[in-house]
Amino acid sequence: MINLQDIAYVRSGAADLATAVRFAVDIVGLELVAEAEGRAWLRADERHHCLAFVEGASGVLSTGFAVADEGALADAETALEKAGLKVVRGDAAGAAERRVRDFLAFEDPFGNVVELVTDQVRLPRPLAFGRPSGITEFGHLCLDAPDIREAYRFWSSLFNVRVSDWIGDHACLMRIDAVHHKLAIFRGDKPGLCHMNFQVASIDDVMRNWHFLEERGVEIEAGPGRHPQSTAIFLYFKGPEGLTYEYSFGARLITDEAAWRPRYFDMSEPDAIDLWRGKGKVTSQPQVPFKGIVR
Ligand SMILES: [Fe+2]
Repeated sequence: MINLQDIAYVRSGAADLATAVRFAVDIVGLELVAEAEGRAWLRADERHHCLAFVEGASGVLSTGFAVADEGALADAETALEKAGLKVVRGDAAGAAERRVRDFLAFEDPFGNVVELVTDQVRLPRPLAFGRPSGITEFGHLCLDAPDIREAYRFWSSLFNVRVSDWIGDHACLMRIDAVHHKLAIFRGDKPGLCHMNFQVASIDDVMRNWHFLEERGVEIEAGPGRHPQSTAIFLYFKGPEGLTYEYSFGARLITDEAAWRPRYFDMSEPDAIDLWRGKGKVTSQPQVPFKGIVR
C-alpha cells in the first residue's frame, strides 16, 4: 500500500504566464515565492509552493502527493509498476525545480498525471499573501475520470485512500487523513483537474471574497453554497488557463475512523451538492497528455 501523507502541489501549464501569475496573486491572494525561466511558484501555507505555473501549453501538467521518504518512494515505484503502470523517475533538475528531494511520475488509468514526492521544502517565514483573502492552506484537489467507481477501485487498491462520501456516480470524495477529502474524483469524459481548493479562515472570508471577485468580473462557477458532505461553505471561480479555484471554510474532520460510514447522495436531489440549492457548474482544466514526459 502506498501511503500518501499529504497533497503537495498542482503543476499547471500557462500560455500566458504573466496573466496567470497576476490572477493567482492579486485575485486569489497567493504568495509569489519565485519566478524564473518561464516558471512561477506560489504558496498558500508552509509548503514551498502548492501551485507551479510552467510557461507553455495550457492545461494541468500533474498533481503531486507526498510520501514519507526515499524508501517509500522506491516501494511506490515497485507497486505502481507491478500494477502495470509506466513510472518515470524524476531527475535532479526536475526535483530541484519542484523543491523536493526526489520524485516520480505516472499516468493513472484515466490519463491523469500524478507525481509522488519526498521531502517537499518548507518555508518557515511568515506568508506574504498577495491580498488578505483569508487563505490558511492548500485544502484539496480534484481529478476527473469517466467512471468514478473504477477510479476508486484504482486509488484504493494502491493507495491509503478511504472514501468519505459518494455523490451518485458524479463524485467520490476521499480522505488520506482526518480531513473529509483531500482528493476527489469527479466524473468527466477526459482527464483533467476539476479544481484546486484553498481553505480560508472564516465564513466572512468566503463572502468577502465573493464580493471581491464579483466586483472584478471574475466568473463565479458555483456558490456561495454549502456542501452537505464536508459541511464546507464553498465558492468556485474560474481563473486564466481554465484553472478553477475554490475557497472553502469549515471542512469536516473525520476523527473516528472506525465509526465513519461513507454516505450516498443522489445528484437528482436539489441539495445533493449544495444545501443552499444554488445552481452552478464547475468546469475542468484539461490534462496535458503525458507521453512519458515529465514536465
Ligand atoms: Fe472542492
